[in-house]
Amino acid sequence: MMQTPYGVTARPRRWFPTSVRDPRRGRGGDTLDRMSAPPDLPDVVNRAFDVSRKAGYVSFCRNETGRLLAMLAATRGGTMAEFGTGCGVGTAWLRSGVRGDDTRILTAELDAELAKAAQEIFVDDPQVEVLAADWSTLLDKGPFSLLFLDSGQPNEVGVDAVADLVEEGGIVVLDDFIPCEVWPPVTGGRVDTLREQWLTDERFTTVEVMVATDASTLIATRR
Ligand SMILES: C[S@@+](CC[C@H](N)C(=O)[O-])C[C@H]1O[C@@H](n2cnc3c(N)ncnc32)[C@H](O)[C@@H]1O
Repeated sequence: MMQTPYGVTARPRRWFPTSVRDPRRGRGGDTLDRMSAPPDLPDVVNRAFDVSRKAGYVSFCRNETGRLLAMLAATRGGTMAEFGTGCGVGTAWLRSGVRGDDTRILTAELDAELAKAAQEIFVDDPQVEVLAADWSTLLDKGPFSLLFLDSGQPNEVGVDAVADLVEEGGIVVLDDFIPCEVWPPVTGGRVDTLREQWLTDERFTTVEVMVATDASTLIATRR
């Protein structure tokens, strides 16, 4: 377990809004007191929050990670993919960064109800396709220029499972790590073998980036 400024936790928590918190502001929005970020969110992200709220779904990427996704998406062409759509907040952040009309985003969500909710956000958007399906459905739709691994099943997203899905120079993003100052990385008193694997595999050049004081993300570029 680990002490963070927000209490003791084994994993960086996602944002779980309560009636007194707005996911668009404050913690889980951006930690505005610690980091510069404009308070206004892209329209598509606001729409995704509205859909999430209506669906009562509260597991989505933090705004800090979202901003990172948008920036990375702005460097990409071709086809990007997301494993685990949830209600479409991460997809919306990716979409907000897309340049040009040819870049596509494919995202797969196992839960049919959630997928249906996320489809609402992009109903008029030919560049985004939300599939109500296991992410394995996307295996033959690559190679991807960016792959956001966010299905919450870390053991399924080892390097071997996804290396060949990413084009040369393509980027993989993994979310939800607790920043760690030791090597090998430790989470909850155990070596974090997933993080260790990504940070050492020769097929990728990988870096862990802190997106907040209590949360980090792995970004890996396919060599
Ligand atoms: C953390 S949430 C995704 C949040 C979303 N990426 C975002 O940033 O807003 C994880 C989602 O992955 C979905 N999921 C779990 N296993 C999956 C699989 N094998 N294929 C597709 N989706 C999966 C879950 O149903 C859940 O909605």
